[in-house]
Amino acid sequence: MIGFPQSVQGRTRDMQCPHATLLNLANFEQGTPRQEIARLRKNHRLVWQEDEYERGGHWLVLQRNDIDTVLKTPADFTNNFSPLLEDFPPDVLAIQQESLTFMDPPRHGEYRSMADFAFRPKALRARADLMQQMATQVIDAVIDKGECEFVEEVAMQLPMKAIYGLLGVKPEDYQYVADITNTLALANDPEYAVDRDAGFAASMEAYLFGEKLAQDHRDNPRDSMTMDMLQADKNGRSLSNSEYAGFFVNLIVGGMETTRNTTAWLIYEFIRYPDQYALLQADPGLVTHAVEEILRYRNTVVYLRRTATHDMEFAGESVKSGDKLVCVLGSPSRSEEFFDSPDRFDITRDPIHTRRQYRTFGAGPHFCIGVHQARMMLELITAEIAARMTNLRLIEEPVHFRSNFMDGFKRMVIGFDKREG
Ligand code: HEM
Repeated sequence: MIGFPQSVQGRTRDMQCPHATLLNLANFEQGTPRQEIARLRKNHRLVWQEDEYERGGHWLVLQRNDIDTVLKTPADFTNNFSPLLEDFPPDVLAIQQESLTFMDPPRHGEYRSMADFAFRPKALRARADLMQQMATQVIDAVIDKGECEFVEEVAMQLPMKAIYGLLGVKPEDYQYVADITNTLALANDPEYAVDRDAGFAASMEAYLFGEKLAQDHRDNPRDSMTMDMLQADKNGRSLSNSEYAGFFVNLIVGGMETTRNTTAWLIYEFIRYPDQYALLQADPGLVTHAVEEILRYRNTVVYLRRTATHDMEFAGESVKSGDKLVCVLGSPSRSEEFFDSPDRFDITRDPIHTRRQYRTFGAGPHFCIGVHQARMMLELITAEIAARMTNLRLIEEPVHFRSNFMDGFKRMVIGFDKREG
């Protein structure tokens, strides 16, 4: 039963730490502050916190039922102002509002159906062999070295080859697209962006690249998901270059960082818990379990923001039109209500139960379009690693990137032995 602490100026704050703000970047230096989230979840349904850099504040949404309500009720909680906490400059916002992640139904559903077909299980099965070959090549490239910088050399390689390949990006452009994706997704880390404006500029660059990619496909038709999307007939009309560009940005941002970070976290946890890695090596059938467990234990998208469309009573609070609601996706992942010993990394948990309980891929109309693709990539690379690498170890302390939205590493140098037989 959740108690409702004292309300300040009509909005409940956390009286134990009234000036603390969960989403302050400093709290994320070692990854998501999960103990603090657990403490807040035990005491609150909604709690009001100040924004770090902007005037005003936001509601943290901590209970799974409330997260589901916010994500599944776009008429009350719109996506039009971004899933990110920061407000976009008006010119950037106007362009972003033409892309999938900023849209509400019914427009959202019409657009999403133009890409959905490429991510259905049938389409995925058709590219399973190719992705298996890619996973093998990724490990081939490092296996004889005995050590590698895991994030760049392994974790990022499969999503990069698979997603860029699928979209028909030319291999010579892969690094450029990866660099702008890092800048726009990790704009709070000075290694990737000098400031937030550099992040907004990178969004524009990615968008322009998407437009050029569409035009290149029209000039030089080739077999790719981009071609399929450009040719899709939607009530007698097809996507323009700029409409396609919005999709392109969503797909590269949605697919790359998330999958890369999840892979890196999995190897990190296997190094921390070698008994769990030994279990997987002894029984390759546990690969699905291992992937679901890391998606639960280290969900990489920290939060999703929505914006209230009108004044309302919600979760015991008076929410005002324009208030930001920030759903903390990792909150249910570590709740005893849904998992036994939730802070234990345990790859023997039932994967079906796990995936039903967590909200790692969101919920409602914007639920991750690439969920099957993500699971397939994660399972392929995990199986390949477990079959070929043993005695995993850290060579240096891994470095987290600076972000309160994405949880992951920018560098992780690991050592390993070749697994014989
Ligand atoms: C571990 C991997 C992944 C995680 C944790 C993840 C997580 C998420 C989450 C939480 C959302 C909801 C966003 C919202 O409600 O505003 C989302 C949406 C989305 N994801 Fe993923 N994702 C992953 C992999 C992928 C992949 C591989 C792709 C595509 C290649 C992809 C493409 C997208 C797109 C396009 C959306 C927007 C859907 C919409 O707005 O309707 N994601 N993802």
